[in-house]
Amino acid sequence: MTILVAGATGTVGRRVVDALLARGATVRALTRDPASAGLPPGVETVAGNLADPSTLATAFKGVTAAHLIGFDGPRGAGGGEALATGPELLRQAQEAGVTRVTLLQNGHSGPMEDAVQTGPLPWTIIAPVGFMANTLQWAPAIRAGEAVREAFGGTATAMIHEADIAEVTAAALIEDGHAAQTYLLSGPAALTVPEQLGVLGDALGRPIDYVELTEAEAIADWRAQGMDQESIDFFVEMGKTTPWVGRTPLPTVERVTGHPARSFAQWAKEHTADFS
Ligand SMILES: NC(=O)c1ccc[n+]([C@@H]2O[C@H](COP(=O)([O-])OP(=O)(O)OC[C@H]3O[C@@H](n4cnc5c(N)ncnc54)[C@H](OP(=O)(O)O)[C@@H]3O)[C@@H](O)[C@H]2O)c1
Repeated sequence: MTILVAGATGTVGRRVVDALLARGATVRALTRDPASAGLPPGVETVAGNLADPSTLATAFKGVTAAHLIGFDGPRGAGGGEALATGPELLRQAQEAGVTRVTLLQNGHSGPMEDAVQTGPLPWTIIAPVGFMANTLQWAPAIRAGEAVREAFGGTATAMIHEADIAEVTAAALIEDGHAAQTYLLSGPAALTVPEQLGVLGDALGRPIDYVELTEAEAIADWRAQGMDQESIDFFVEMGKTTPWVGRTPLPTVERVTGHPARSFAQWAKEHTADFS
């Protein structure tokens, strides 16, 4: 069984590679730059660009199942370009003999999700809430011993460990019984920013200070970082009214993998070096 993983160098895709290897699958990793992919030995790395299906002729050959990513706007992996090639990617996959696909949702539905759901192959949509890895954005401040500065800190999110997203994805790629499902994935607890910093501080053995920014201060910071208005509006909306799925621990990880979703305390222990 050879499984193609798109986005294999990314935060989630890299974990999907590990989860598939752990289950004994043969993994082919898609990247635009094989030379810098840095994937584990035994993983076949192929060059290809999802936005240009003509580059994917060999990628799908001999593949049983494929994990796809979509980027449908400025917050997506493509850096702003909506991926409009979905129907052609699905056609190529079917022609090559691929029997099922998973798609990492972009935080909202978009053209890639439409293409997968209306396409010729059995599909599973992997729809996680915020990744625990998003807290790495605080690493420079924490390493420098500075306070973490955030707005909307009282908003709790049930963020998810990337390894759990990966294990659910691997199950959907390898096992029967996951077709035509959209798996909403969240972690085991909804935590506010001060609570998240408390967990990180416990892992590091020192307290981390927190400064609550006003909405206006946060918007000014995001503008200074070059963030576009659509993303700013998105983050303000999420901060003020996190949708229920973003703040609700869901049973999906345990139902699919057979074990409870990993805690943020576990994630923090695994990442102390990033914050030290
Ligand atoms: N952060 C969150 O909380 C969150 C929550 C829900 C959903 N999401 C969504 O999850 C998705 C993936 O996030 P991530 O953090 O795992 O990704 P990431 O770390 O930003 O990595 C992006 C990946 O996309 C690949 N890629 C980008 N453009 C490509 C193209 N044209 N052709 C082929 N591959 C391409 C890159 O591969 P190469 O550079 O090697 O080619 C890389 O592996 C994003 O769409 C994001 O919107 C994020």
